[in-house]
Amino acid sequence: MGIAVFASGNGSNFEVLVNHSRQNKWIYPISLLVCDRPGAGVLKRAERLNIPVLSESPKQYPDKGAYEKRILEHLKAHQIKRIVLAGYMRLIGPTLLEAYPDQIINIHPSLLPAFPGKNAIEKAFVHPVCVSGVTVHLVDQGMDTGPILAQVPVEIERGDTLEIFEQKIHQAEHRLYPETVQKWIAGEIGLRRVEMKHHEEGK
Ligand code: GRF
Repeated sequence: MGIAVFASGNGSNFEVLVNHSRQNKWIYPISLLVCDRPGAGVLKRAERLNIPVLSESPKQYPDKGAYEKRILEHLKAHQIKRIVLAGYMRLIGPTLLEAYPDQIINIHPSLLPAFPGKNAIEKAFVHPVCVSGVTVHLVDQGMDTGPILAQVPVEIERGDTLEIFEQKIHQAEHRLYPETVQKWIAGEIGLRRVEMKHHEEGK
């Protein structure tokens, strides 16, 4: 069962996922990297790790639908069953959402629903909060709004600079994402929100 990772930037989460899976007999085989930014750091990592890449800018296409159709062709050719977003700076559109219903997850560097969208680490840091964290969630049409699968808190301690806090967030991501992807693939993760909805309906 093939997985595609979508990334736009540095790619540290992509590399951690590939290494984790590889060290565990490809427990979730990552067979494709999709990257929307030519020159992104993640492309070098994919080359070094020997993972096939689809790297095309959406600017080459008339609209999001056409771009996603092109991606979809590649996903089908690689027999991709699930998609893992890791720093992919683009909303997923209807073409991919309909082709992969509840089969796309994302990692976000805050405790959602707090601080959705871009620059979540900085936003948490400049707010008077003591705890932020990391969230893994299913992807829907919104911006970081899908049902939550896993979360871990990360404290903002006295004396933390933004750089230190960022490092702590990334370390938490690198622990949480591989473990969550593994459980998700194995069907071991419950959707708390769905369970809560059923609970409320049963009242
Ligand atoms: C991570 O902080 C992730 O939560 C966010 O984008 C960042 C990607 O980092 N969605 P990297 O490219 O994996 O190093």
